[in-house]
Amino acid sequence: MALRNTADQYGTIAKWLHWLTALLFLGSYVSVYYRHWFTEEKTPENWTALQLHLSIGVTIGVIVVLRILWRLYDRRPDPEPGTRLEHLAAHLGHYALYAVMIIMPVTGYLGTGVATEYFFLFDIPAFKDTELFASQFGLSMTFEEFEKPIDFIHKDVMGAWLVWILILGHVAAALYHHFGKKDRTLIRMTSGR
Ligand code: HEM
Ligand code: HEM
Repeated sequence: MALRNTADQYGTIAKWLHWLTALLFLGSYVSVYYRHWFTEEKTPENWTALQLHLSIGVTIGVIVVLRILWRLYDRRPDPEPGTRLEHLAAHLGHYALYAVMIIMPVTGYLGTGVATEYFFLFDIPAFKDTELFASQFGLSMTFEEFEKPIDFIHKDVMGAWLVWILILGHVAAALYHHFGKKDRTLIRMTSGR
């Protein structure tokens, strides 16, 4: 199987980056909802679930950089037959998902008041404790004041709603292509056959 994309097929690298990201998104949701729904505050499980959420989120932030670089370097498979409106919707949906993959890790990290114990291997300092926050961007704010709007975007607007809507819409579109239009859209991102 080719490493790079071809006219009618995603290559191994694009597929790995795509499916690894999908798995990490699942992990970031499972860890944070497990923390909320199934653990008591200040217990070791609660802390572990938070740390897994932070570690997985940071990993998504790193992978999206590699993914964008690879996308700029690699060719795009040719679009499957469809109307101009369908192609426009697919493009906008994909760009919105790239935006999510950037905005979620950035807002997540900017809102950290505790260090990320990256998969319990090494520590990444909390944003609250960095020189960048200390410099205050010319604003004199406490971390709590700074964190509020950032958390609102990360949790209430995007995490709870927008990301779900975009991902569910994306999955529905993939299923519609596969079972409704019966074209190669899903196949070329999976087995290729
Ligand atoms: C794509 C990556 C990410 C997704 C999809 C995501 C999603 C979420 C969601 C759904 C919540 C809970 C919202 C609620 O209260 O209902 C949350 C909370 C939180 N996230 Fe993220 N997040 C991501 C990345 C990150 C990163 C990189 C960090 C920091 C390094 C981070 C830090 C936090 C913190 C501190 C909370 C509050 C903890 C809690 O509510 O239990 N997130 N995130
Ligand atoms: C079960 C879950 C998923 C399925 C079935 C799925 C399916 C697909 C398929 C079939 C394509 C190819 C579309 C085309 O050729 O036009 C694709 C592309 C894409 N997917 Fe997913 N996906 C899933 C999860 C995700 C998640 C969680 C994200 C990110 C948050 C994501 C982001 C993207 C992006 C950005 C592209 C465009 C890739 C590019 O050409 O640059 N997908 N997906």
